[in-house]
Amino acid sequence: MTIQTLTFPRPDDMHVHVRDGAAMHSVVPLTARQFARAIIMPNLRPPVTTVAQAGEYLRRILGAISDLSPKNALKFEPLMTLYLTDNTSPEEIRKAKASGFVHAVKYYPSGATTNSDNGVTSLEKVDAVLSEMERLGFPLLLHGEVTDSDVDIFDREAKFVDTHLQMLTRRYPALRMVVEHITTEEAAQFVASAPAHIAATITPQHMLYNRNAMFKGGIRPHYYCLPILKREHDRKALIAAATSGSSKFFLGTDSAPHAKHNKENCCGHAGCFTAHAALELYATVFENANALEKLPDFAAKFGAQFYGLPINAGTVTLKKENWKPSQTFALGADEVVPMDADETLTWKLMA
Ligand code: NCD
Ligand code: ZN
Repeated sequence: MTIQTLTFPRPDDMHVHVRDGAAMHSVVPLTARQFARAIIMPNLRPPVTTVAQAGEYLRRILGAISDLSPKNALKFEPLMTLYLTDNTSPEEIRKAKASGFVHAVKYYPSGATTNSDNGVTSLEKVDAVLSEMERLGFPLLLHGEVTDSDVDIFDREAKFVDTHLQMLTRRYPALRMVVEHITTEEAAQFVASAPAHIAATITPQHMLYNRNAMFKGGIRPHYYCLPILKREHDRKALIAAATSGSSKFFLGTDSAPHAKHNKENCCGHAGCFTAHAALELYATVFENANALEKLPDFAAKFGAQFYGLPINAGTVTLKKENWKPSQTFALGADEVVPMDADETLTWKLMA
């Protein structure tokens, strides 16, 4: 008998972009419907670089939840992060640790992705901060791509693993790190063989698709994100890692909404929007790998464990059912096209 329903503790999305302002009000409810907590990316304009800014952003996100009717205002806890810049001070890290609501620091190599121009220009510049984070056991979240324009876009993550990541683990041997949204066999292997305090998140898109999806019958901007979709052997390695039962690999959607006109554009923005059906997409991946029983820990346990958080109270139930999500969702005054807008989903999150 094939599994028809799956019930497990309310899960966590350990990497999501909820933006700000009216767009935030549109997308936060979708994430809160699926997840009890989420690691909130700090790449706003301007970026969230201080504990004070993170506290204000936290209040704005909670405001977007309190808009919902009491019946739908699910308990949702945003887990805030700081955006690491060349000017971040060790003092700010101590404040972050003491705050109780900032859970990690995000490292973007300058220019690597959407809103990353304030990112770190060289790792030497943040040495004192990384040493303090290592001492305090405060996690560093890495956008793991080199930015050198002479490195092929499909090789940027593997190159980062080989150079920066090797260096970081040598120089800061106890630093807790999450290699975010891993996309390659190299990154999966690196994390699997690294010490227990080094983990990774994996998105649904990188396990559902290889790079052909971006060019199927024409150029398809809603499958374009960074790090970019990779080769088939990479996709297989990510599925193997996610379904291995290793606590080093956990759920992080990287849902990254961009207005339709900014995606369907001659210079389209990077980011796939999956917040409307994230669990459904992951369930399809795990089912196709004959590993549905591995989904609960990947979604609800390993991330919590890494961040030293309790397993969430309450449960979610996924049911085997064919349905078509909306072709667009509101994004403030704009609209956002979800990834897979044309596909029939085969799992459905029950209300
Ligand atoms: C993200 C965004 O739009 O903020 N885009 C993406 O392609 N993933 C930034 C990021 O996480 O790289
Ligand atoms: Zn992201």
